Amino acid sequence: MSKKRLLALTLAGMMATSVLAGCGGQKTTTPDATNPDASTDQPSADSGAVDYSDITIGSCIYKFDDTFMTNVRNAMTEAAGTLGCKVDLVDSQNKQPEQNNQVDTFITKGVSALAINAVDRTAAGPLVEKAKAESLPIVFLNREPEADVMQSYDKIWYVGAKAEESGTMSGEIIVDYWKAHPEMDRNGDGKLQYIMITGEPGHQDATLRTEYSVKAITDAGIQVEELGNDTAMWDKVKATDLVTSLLAAKGVERVEAILCNNDDMALGAIEALKAAGYNKGDAAMYTPVVGVDATDAALQAMSEGTLLGTVLNDAVNQGTATVNIAAAAAAGQEITKDTIGYEVTDGKYVWIPYVKVTVDNYKDYIK
Ligand code: GAL
Ligand code: CA
Repeated sequence: MSKKRLLALTLAGMMATSVLAGCGGQKTTTPDATNPDASTDQPSADSGAVDYSDITIGSCIYKFDDTFMTNVRNAMTEAAGTLGCKVDLVDSQNKQPEQNNQVDTFITKGVSALAINAVDRTAAGPLVEKAKAESLPIVFLNREPEADVMQSYDKIWYVGAKAEESGTMSGEIIVDYWKAHPEMDRNGDGKLQYIMITGEPGHQDATLRTEYSVKAITDAGIQVEELGNDTAMWDKVKATDLVTSLLAAKGVERVEAILCNNDDMALGAIEALKAAGYNKGDAAMYTPVVGVDATDAALQAMSEGTLLGTVLNDAVNQGTATVNIAAAAAAGQEITKDTIGYEVTDGKYVWIPYVKVTVDNYKDYIK
């Protein structure tokens, strides 16, 4: 089991313990990620334990056919199992009206809390109104509602990761490689010629990863020239097609790096490079590619030497935190680190850190 996964399970277990303890009026235990055995006060079995078996979380995922969100879904199911509650996951098929109907159906069925991965994060407002009318807790994940929506209700939370951080880390991976490998400047002009492949327009992760990855490179004093920049909507096949045409239009040998907002698109870019004879083992014909997520397939590509690096987007902890908040809120608990096992910022936000994944540490993340 990976270290991250173990941590998430430990935190989920601690949450159950601390909610039980809190409910029984005993001193709550404080989760300590570095020393899981530190808690001393175990609640007794008859201390007024919260029975989560009555709790059902209704969860809409923007679309099931998304690698990273599939990992989040699996983590949610596992976390619900750990707590003993239920999570009903439905596929919004990338359609906001469909998601709105799904929320209505969940409310009619009488779910105890909602966990929403919005199709359109700017359309979260009406979903919050629906939850508010029923006094239902609502947790958004991965697609961040706008600040005014987050402030419009007291039972709303967001679980995500700071996109800027992932952008900076992926840019730094390129910087380190550029410094260690002068031959990366293929045309010797002192500038990095790159292609940027972006996620869905309007998604905070697409906008900020794009901006901050380039910023990390220019902050390191490297001049850049963008040869192409387009969206492949987080999708591997779309990225393969897009990069194939960009390489043909710009000249594959002129492209000194390909920066991608996620791993599926990085893997698509690698397919396109391979088809053009690159990234197949010949060091003179290697174009560094970076992604974000650290999916299984990306780690595999790193072990094959086709992908330079990625950034762990921690699906296990994002999924676990979402379920922990929804269950605790449904059980009437206050949402704090003691009850959910994760630090809470401004009473509403849980930020799960990204981790830079390079040739030095990628093996730690292989499951
Ligand atoms: C991002 C992730 C992408 C995609 C997207 C969906 O955080 O890096 O791969 O899953 O979320 O909203
Ligand atoms: Ca150059």
